[in-house]
Amino acid sequence: MSHRISLTQYLIEQQRGPAQLPSQLRLLIEVVARACKTIAISVNKGALGDVLGTAGSENVQGEVQKKLDIIANEVLIEANEWGGHLAAMASEEMDDIHVVPNRYPQGEYLLLFDPLDGSSNIDVNVSIGTIFSVLKHSDGHAVSTSSFLQPGTAQVAAGYCVYGPQSTLVLTVGQGVVMFTLDREQGSWVLTQDKLQIPEDTKEFAINMSNMRHWAPPVKRYIDECLAGKEGVRGKDFNMRWVASMVADVHRILTRGGIFMYPWDQREPNKPGKLRLMYEANPMSFLVEQAGGASTNGLQRIMDMQPTQLHERVSVVLGSKNEVERVTAYHREAQ
Ligand code: AHG
Ligand code: MN
Ligand code: MN
Repeated sequence: MSHRISLTQYLIEQQRGPAQLPSQLRLLIEVVARACKTIAISVNKGALGDVLGTAGSENVQGEVQKKLDIIANEVLIEANEWGGHLAAMASEEMDDIHVVPNRYPQGEYLLLFDPLDGSSNIDVNVSIGTIFSVLKHSDGHAVSTSSFLQPGTAQVAAGYCVYGPQSTLVLTVGQGVVMFTLDREQGSWVLTQDKLQIPEDTKEFAINMSNMRHWAPPVKRYIDECLAGKEGVRGKDFNMRWVASMVADVHRILTRGGIFMYPWDQREPNKPGKLRLMYEANPMSFLVEQAGGASTNGLQRIMDMQPTQLHERVSVVLGSKNEVERVTAYHREAQ
């Protein structure tokens, strides 16, 4: 059997290599990966584990919570709060930050997560996932919500796990992007792809087309040009995919290229977009950029944005570099 590299081995190599990954950050990533393993097992049980359906509650964004949203959130909190590597956590499913209780030592990292991404796909057995972002808490003050309000460029690690036909963990610590696949028999994450690279060009786009009539003109222009195919200005036919789980759409883009958009639309003009900056857009942007892609809100690089709120939303355009630059140029021209 060829030599298999486990997540632990990869992280220890990162500790010894040029990245000099701090041991507390290594521990944090291992704990998150272990929690994702637990979530993967619950997801796989489905109806047999009584994890499908709604929980009968709403989160801070007024969205109905599914049982798995709450289960995944609890798994991540319980796994992470006692290890001494974190100061606090924030999640899509919690109104306020969760400070590590006094009975445990406080570490110097902040963890943000979307515990269960793609909730509308839980009950229909389509890929879902967990997204996470890690920041450093180093300002010397007691941890508070404002400690979290750092731009995406401050992230020290980010990743996601997709619970699909396979469970895969995709990670960056700022040294490129790597992918691990869960070996269920061994219970371990095994490195299955190193140095993921997004092709600069693509013929595949991902957007919820049912919102077309509400889009801003630059988005409409870009998609119209894709739809015009070979006969249009682009001179090539495009394909469309929309899983409605950002993890699955981004995973496809990291694997074979493409562009993903969840843009602002005119139904709620004061809402910048649907997706959340701190625990969806920022970690995905970090991964995409580390894989040679690009990520903007249509006008500016997402990772440069200064967050003002924990649950802030943002318009998202990410994926193959040349396509993202084209969409961004269309927005700038329209200004
Ligand atoms: P979540 O389940 O964490 O609320 O996120 C769902 C998001 C994202 O994963 C996906 O790309 C998008 O919502 C799908 O939205 P539509 O249902 O509007 O297509
Ligand atoms: Mn989500
Ligand atoms: Mn979610």
